Amino acid sequence: MPQAKTPTVLVTGSSGFLGRNLLKFSSKKYKLIAQYRYHQPAAYGDKIRFLKLDFLAEQWKKLQLLKPRVIIHTAAMASIDECETQPELAQRTNYSATCRLVDFAARRKIRFIFISSDVVFDGTKGNYSENEEPYPVNFYAQTKIAAEKYVMENLPDAVVVRPALFYGLALDGRPSFTETMLQHLYAGKQIYTFTDQYRTPILVNDLVSALWELVENSYCGYLHLGGPQKVSRLDLGKMLCAIFNLDENLLIPVKSREVNLQARRPLDCSLDISLARSLLKTRFVDCRTGLQLAYR
Ligand SMILES: NC(=O)c1ccc[n+]([C@@H]2O[C@H](COP(=O)([O-])OP(=O)(O)OC[C@H]3O[C@@H](n4cnc5c(N)ncnc54)[C@H](OP(=O)(O)O)[C@@H]3O)[C@@H](O)[C@H]2O)c1
Repeated sequence: MPQAKTPTVLVTGSSGFLGRNLLKFSSKKYKLIAQYRYHQPAAYGDKIRFLKLDFLAEQWKKLQLLKPRVIIHTAAMASIDECETQPELAQRTNYSATCRLVDFAARRKIRFIFISSDVVFDGTKGNYSENEEPYPVNFYAQTKIAAEKYVMENLPDAVVVRPALFYGLALDGRPSFTETMLQHLYAGKQIYTFTDQYRTPILVNDLVSALWELVENSYCGYLHLGGPQKVSRLDLGKMLCAIFNLDENLLIPVKSREVNLQARRPLDCSLDISLARSLLKTRFVDCRTGLQLAYR
């Protein structure tokens, strides 16, 4: 009997925080094509092929010979402040490159999982569900909302995932924000922590597990992926201090309006994750458990 072909998944942004974790915790059932721009990530397992491609350079013909069954599109200009100060670059990276990848997927009938963000909401209400209207308060959100719309208009079978802020081990990449917090606390350095910006942070391992489930799943539409708990950055800092027995006095509480940020931040973009809970087997741990799992 002929052997069934092993399906291939293309992970874009595989050198980023999320991308590296997607590679590390991928299912053995798939072959991976791992796209990166500058920094080739570590290979976990032998079913992986790397693709060095800058979406803003004319290197798209490298994609033409590929026919993955699924694309998980994580690549983006993910810094909210950089998007605000370099809007043209942000538009080309987060919107135009996504549109081009969507067109490629549409021509080849590839399942498409697009990584958007919780920051698409204006943060005036919190506990946002999938059927609530996004409204951008910064340029990053504007590019993500435009990309989301293009995905859904051109690929009705796609999934637009809106993850909450994610935390955990950045593996061999740039430290994640919780890792930076821990480094500062261990070094005895003060950290300014917002008291009025609320999110429902998700452990990167849970996010990755949910995304691999979605590769198998036929769900299409918007999906919110977050943790079960609404917290501020100060709350997260306090949890780290309690778990690792560090000095809580190093956390300096500040309100958003007291700091001169380049881009405005929505205050409460906590997510309602009822749909994900009903759809997926992945369970989403609370922050204290997640921080312990990540760093103990
Ligand atoms: N981090 C969070 O808490 C968070 C929360 C909600 C949503 N998100 C979204 O989740 C996704 C992943 O975030 P992340 O934190 O993992 O981002 P990240 O660590 O900054 O990684 C971004 C990735 O995009 C790649 N990339 C950027 N510009 C590119 C270009 N022109 N051509 C090709 N590749 C390019 C980078 O490649 P190189 O490293 O090789 O340059 C890197 O692999 C993003 O879409 C982000 O908007 C993030």
